[in-house]
Amino acid sequence: MKWQGIIARYGKHLPVLHGPVVTLLEGNTPLVPCPRLSRLVGAKVNLLAKVEGTNPTGSFKDRGMTVAISKAAEEGHRTVICASTGNTAASAAAYAARAGMRCFVLIPGGEVARGKLAQAIAHGAQVLAVEGSFDAALKLVRELSRRCPVALVNSLNPNRIEGQKTAAFEICDALGDAPEFHALPVGNAGNITAYWKGFLEYSQLGLASRLPRLLAFQAEGAAPLVLGHIVANPETFATAIRIGNPASGKQALAAAHDSQGLIAAVSDDEIREAYRLLSQQEGLFVEPASAAGVAGLLKLGREGFFPGDRPVTITCTLTGHGLKDPDAALALEQPPISIPAQLESAVSAMGLELDAAPPAGAATTPEQEE
Ligand code: F0G
Repeated sequence: MKWQGIIARYGKHLPVLHGPVVTLLEGNTPLVPCPRLSRLVGAKVNLLAKVEGTNPTGSFKDRGMTVAISKAAEEGHRTVICASTGNTAASAAAYAARAGMRCFVLIPGGEVARGKLAQAIAHGAQVLAVEGSFDAALKLVRELSRRCPVALVNSLNPNRIEGQKTAAFEICDALGDAPEFHALPVGNAGNITAYWKGFLEYSQLGLASRLPRLLAFQAEGAAPLVLGHIVANPETFATAIRIGNPASGKQALAAAHDSQGLIAAVSDDEIREAYRLLSQQEGLFVEPASAAGVAGLLKLGREGFFPGDRPVTITCTLTGHGLKDPDAALALEQPPISIPAQLESAVSAMGLELDAAPPAGAATTPEQEE
């Protein structure tokens, strides 16, 4: 059957929609086996990555946005607003453009990855950089949405959670059951709330025989749910999850508790290590925040958390595409070496050696080609 987006596929589990569906055919993302990372996490581990960076705007936010924007349109809204560390902004801007709506975005000044900012601007959103953190921006948009005729499309909007729970459905559909563990990064805590709702609903419907234990990870410098208090000045190079006062914190703690899972912190160095392993060992280029889930799994693996005497299936959400944050990638690796356009220079820069003569008929010089 032709893929027509998550509302067409999972509509019977979603709020009833009377108006037209606003979709970019989001969802249906691949569940990619990660054999090398599996071995690093545990001897018997089968780790599969839910690659949400393949969504239309490059992150999981599109699942929630198709429902939130379709509902806002149905309710007659002409304008939407959100606070964002970048991905919600990119997604809201794209879906608002699709729906012919205006979109206002409030971002923490100077802290949003450039790919995301480019997306929001390209889709015609009006972007305001707030002098303050994401938490301050969220407080502002909550007030604005109460006092102005604009629809809030942050994950405080229940339609966002409804849409995002479909990622859990897709995982169960792909595996034929729920995994034993599911790992993911946590920022404002909407996504963990959505996954838990999705897994619960599938198990209640008999479409999954068990519930996964949720393994959720925050960055050490922005870990209010681990510390048990608000973090006034959150800090981490994973800017997507630089959040000190998560709106759905209570739901996140309940999901971790009820699933017999956990919420733990990973350091920026651990996130960097996972980011490198994902791109260089598995060919999966993600943005830094997305590597936090894998960083947490590697850490738990080192602590002997996973059973070593029987097969264990773990799924992990890779929340956003690596191209979202090109500066993060460029800062971690060596810049390109500049060379003259000569064979010898290229060979020596690559640390290779030239054979005495090119194989007959194989190599050609530019002159011969012409
Ligand atoms: N990973 C990425 C790439 C994100 O953009 C976010 C959140 C998260 C993880 C955490 O998800 O907030 O539901 O716990 N980004 C939001 C935004 C805050 O504004 O784009 P969460």
